[in-house]
Amino acid sequence: VVKLTTASEPDFKTEIGKLLTTNRLGKSIHVFDEQDSTQDYANALPNIESVHGTIVIARKQKMGKGRMGRTWISPKGGLWMSIIFRPEFSAKSIIFTQFMGALAIAEAITEITNIRCTLKWPNDVLINEKKVCGILVDVNLEGKDKVIVMGVGLNANIETCLVNDNLTNDSIEATSLKKEYGNDIDLVHLTKVIIDRIEYYYYDLLSTGKTLEIIDLWKKNSDTIGKRAVVYDGNEKVVGKAIDIDKDGSLLMRLDDASIKRVTYYSNVTFG
Ligand code: BTN
Repeated sequence: VVKLTTASEPDFKTEIGKLLTTNRLGKSIHVFDEQDSTQDYANALPNIESVHGTIVIARKQKMGKGRMGRTWISPKGGLWMSIIFRPEFSAKSIIFTQFMGALAIAEAITEITNIRCTLKWPNDVLINEKKVCGILVDVNLEGKDKVIVMGVGLNANIETCLVNDNLTNDSIEATSLKKEYGNDIDLVHLTKVIIDRIEYYYYDLLSTGKTLEIIDLWKKNSDTIGKRAVVYDGNEKVVGKAIDIDKDGSLLMRLDDASIKRVTYYSNVTFG
């Protein structure tokens, strides 16, 4: 395990430590030059080290994980980060972590670049209809010790690459901030703004149970509602028009026979 310290580059951990003004997230930060997967690393941290708000960042991942067991291509230049939450609120609202994560990231991108982002159910952030960021949420509900690990994969300063579309399972052309913005982004600053926004949403909406506000905000920025979509509900392929997000976060689809089908989001939930 190699810490990021190269002569030519400012130390990411020192820089982010200087910039970060959050009260609760990021009090403990692990930064690696290279890691198999920040998600695996965060999930494997012993309890004593995985305190609430712990953040794991790798400049490059060798075995980045996407949703549904897919590979996540993670070269240097992207933001590959996992945040550990130990929520005190109900298991029901935990499902909204992914929605608030996508919202926070979309807002942070707009704040820095002025580029409008849209959201695609359940948790992708798009620019010009192409995926720029995906979120992977692992939930472990072990007795009273609930743990959420939220993985953020943001194509920041990298060339365009392919990612897997979470709705259709197909490989699609993704985009990067660099490509859309036309320039490299200050990764440390971007990371700071994202962590700030996530902290804001976590404490102002999620922990206070304002899940409907999260859904409303999410819908305002949605790229899914009103469009034809192909979704997998487990292994079942659902084709139709996405008409709404229900108050529990499910996607409501109107099928071609006019019936309504509810598709529930599954994060990786483990009951210990
Ligand atoms: C998706 O499939 O859309 C979610 C991708 C999540 C990728 C991030 S990168 C940081 C963290 N570590 C991983 O191995 N995966 C997540």
